[in-house]
Amino acid sequence: MGKPDDLTVTSSNRIVLSSDHAAIQLRQVLAAHIAGQGWEVVDIGPATPESTPYPEHGAAAARRVASGDCRFGIVLCGTGQGIMMAANKVTGIRCGVCADAFSARMIRQHNDANMLSVGARVVGEGLALDIVDAFLAAKFEGGRHATRVAMIGALEG
Ligand code: RB5
Repeated sequence: MGKPDDLTVTSSNRIVLSSDHAAIQLRQVLAAHIAGQGWEVVDIGPATPESTPYPEHGAAAARRVASGDCRFGIVLCGTGQGIMMAANKVTGIRCGVCADAFSARMIRQHNDANMLSVGARVVGEGLALDIVDAFLAAKFEGGRHATRVAMIGALEG
């Protein structure tokens, strides 16, 4: 793990993770997996299992991505839906909820998603790992997709 002032750590290799209480265990598994791939993981919790509202955690992660501090964000709740909805309220965020690896790849290739949401009560650990791997390995294709992504941005108030 690099020091806080390690200049080799940039937003291009930093990923923020957050969840609500429903997904703490899966979030910790994913954090360890991603860190093992060389990403700088910023796990903003929560650390303890008390019930906690997913909008707070989705927004906190989304702000780290929207500010440029983190390249990607991965958020989790029971279904992945609520925390995805909250993240998408932050300007500049394109977060998709995925329960399959194909969708996770496509939201990077076609939608230039900068955040991924996963439902810990929907998918098992092995599938969640595949989903995250597909998301992180895929590259935005640009071209006609860039025009469409720009149109999404134009909808932001
Ligand atoms: C919490 O019980 C649950 O509502 C939450 O984790 C999530 O599924 C909401 O979308």
